[in-house]
Amino acid sequence: MNYISDALNRVQPSATVGISQKARAMKNTGKDIIVLSAGEPDFDTPQNVKDAAKKAIDENQTKYTNVGGIIELREAIAAKFKRDNNLDISPDNCFVSTGGKQIIFNAMLATLNKGDEVIIPTPYWVSYPEVVRLCDAKPVFISTDETSNFKLSPTALKAAITPKTKWLMLNSPSNPSGSVYTKDELKALAEILKQYPNILILSDDIYEQLIYDGFTFSTMAQAAPELGERILTMNGLSKSHAMTGWRIGYCAGPSFLIKAMAKLQSQSTSATCSIAQWAAVEALNGEQDFLDEWREIFAKRRNMLVNGLNKIEGFDCLKPSGAFYVFPSIKPFIGKTSKGGQKITSDEDFVFALLEENDVALVHGSAFGIDNHIRISYAASQDSLSEALKRIEQFCIDLH
Ligand SMILES: Cc1ncc(COP(=O)(O)O)c(C=O)c1O
Repeated sequence: MNYISDALNRVQPSATVGISQKARAMKNTGKDIIVLSAGEPDFDTPQNVKDAAKKAIDENQTKYTNVGGIIELREAIAAKFKRDNNLDISPDNCFVSTGGKQIIFNAMLATLNKGDEVIIPTPYWVSYPEVVRLCDAKPVFISTDETSNFKLSPTALKAAITPKTKWLMLNSPSNPSGSVYTKDELKALAEILKQYPNILILSDDIYEQLIYDGFTFSTMAQAAPELGERILTMNGLSKSHAMTGWRIGYCAGPSFLIKAMAKLQSQSTSATCSIAQWAAVEALNGEQDFLDEWREIFAKRRNMLVNGLNKIEGFDCLKPSGAFYVFPSIKPFIGKTSKGGQKITSDEDFVFALLEENDVALVHGSAFGIDNHIRISYAASQDSLSEALKRIEQFCIDLH
């Protein structure tokens, strides 16, 4: 008897879980594993945010709240959109969920019907296709590669659109590639989208604050205000304020969509944690200066990692402008055999052999929809990164 629903049977388990579980199991046996597979900043949540949460507890802010978030938080979100993105958004069009992930789940479950298509450029964040499949809709992938800096072109977008296209999912800065769209690139995509009024656009801006080299962040609602009624701008505090465990995601969108998401969330989780919401008010309204320091640290680590990788024969790693990942090709190593005798026929083989033999945990590119790549997170100390580079280099030298 199969008790599991067809909907869940359509969903793949998280491909990143396998590597993380293995890394954890090896660590538990006392092995010195360097974990560069994580998708979270290694910094602590800022002190003012922690203090705001303690205060909320002491003041008994511990009850159910409005499903879409307390008004103070929705006002702080509207102010953030004005401050950072120059968007004029009413707090009524702002909405809070349990992580950015739930925003995406809400939006897709609220709008997708069987057979609808969702355009997802590859490489993509692992959850995008799975939530689409859960809704009985179809992910339509558009491949990108190094030649376009892993960015979607207007021509490729146009070619993928059909009468069934319901959403385009865009993520900038990108997990896993770290690529960032310029305002002009977003405008060019918008020119195509203008011709198709049935398509909604998800702009996943969760890495907005982690952007380097003086690059200016742009979001679709800013680049193409004329599409505003069709754009869901998603963001959250997981990456910007090192608050992955607090579970605060937020968005701004058209009223019909925000109302639909609220209806759905009212029958699932209701509002996210009241204490985390008060902490989020402080995170958004309080001092943001710490971000300059974090950006500087991340940029230094990125430079070190990219330079170190490019010294290893076979690597030609791009230097991404955002997020905290690099995503190099490992194609030259496919078909070789590791020191321990493991045949490397795929990026997954590369990653598992590297973990087993040289104690570094990364994620294989195929988990993000692109073969023969690896994602390395630099949300780790310079010492760890430097040691990881030595181990990766040795692993590659030993491949024959
Ligand atoms: C691209 C992207 N979007 C959304 C999320 C969801 O983040 P959270 O649910 O922690 O807010 C993540 C987390 O890894 C991500 O990488």
